[in-house]
Amino acid sequence: MALKNKLNIKNQAELSRAEERISKQKAKELFDSGEIDKAEAGTFSGLSKIHRILFDEIYHFAGEMRDVNMAKGNFRFAPLMYLKQSLDYIDKMPQSTFDEIIEKYVEMNIAHPFREGNGRATRIWLDLIFKKELRKVVDWSKIDKEGYLLAMERSPVKDVEIKQLLKDALTNRINEREIFMKGIDASYYYEGYTEFIAGDL
Ligand SMILES: Nc1ncnc2c1ncn2[C@@H]1O[C@H](COP(=O)(O)OP(=O)(O)OP(=O)(O)O)[C@@H](O)[C@H]1O
Ligand SMILES: [Mg+2]
Repeated sequence: MALKNKLNIKNQAELSRAEERISKQKAKELFDSGEIDKAEAGTFSGLSKIHRILFDEIYHFAGEMRDVNMAKGNFRFAPLMYLKQSLDYIDKMPQSTFDEIIEKYVEMNIAHPFREGNGRATRIWLDLIFKKELRKVVDWSKIDKEGYLLAMERSPVKDVEIKQLLKDALTNRINEREIFMKGIDASYYYEGYTEFIAGDL
């Protein structure tokens, strides 16, 4: 059964397709309109704004904290009881060095604040921090899916793998549209969405 949605789609494959098309289109607009640079870098408020823009046409919960516990594989994301507290803590984490930024990203992934769309929204949020703090972004097209997902699965215990992977993919081409659009496509590919090309929408 598909997640309840504003489009009233009941079929999962159909919902995934619509979600990819609409939210990639929103991601593209986020860049082209310059709205992305207005989001606060490194806070839940900034992440929430990104999530709302991507998913508001699709889900009632866009930009809102989840109200259920969630797990992936053997890993349980922050229990609902501590989610708000955890987000307040993350807001205050430092973000002036590469290591601090990754540590913050790992914590935000552990928080997993939304019911759906955490991976995709949080990677845009991570790039915004890199862009503002280090004048760099990740060239996601250089990061292999399996390697990335393994490093993220490992990250709550040990963050060396994800640090190495992201460090090797940093670029100073921070305002290039092609880097952003290819990054969106790679990010969606990690989550199994491969039907549309962001730049074409
Ligand atoms: N086992 C794991 N432990 C910790 N983090 C993980 C694990 N597997 C994946 N992740 C991280 O969580 C992200 C997305 O996971 P998940 O599918 O649960 O979220 P989502 O809300 O459905 O996000 P999206 O819809 O963007 O895929 C991955 O991109 C990765 O960064
Ligand atoms: Mg998902």
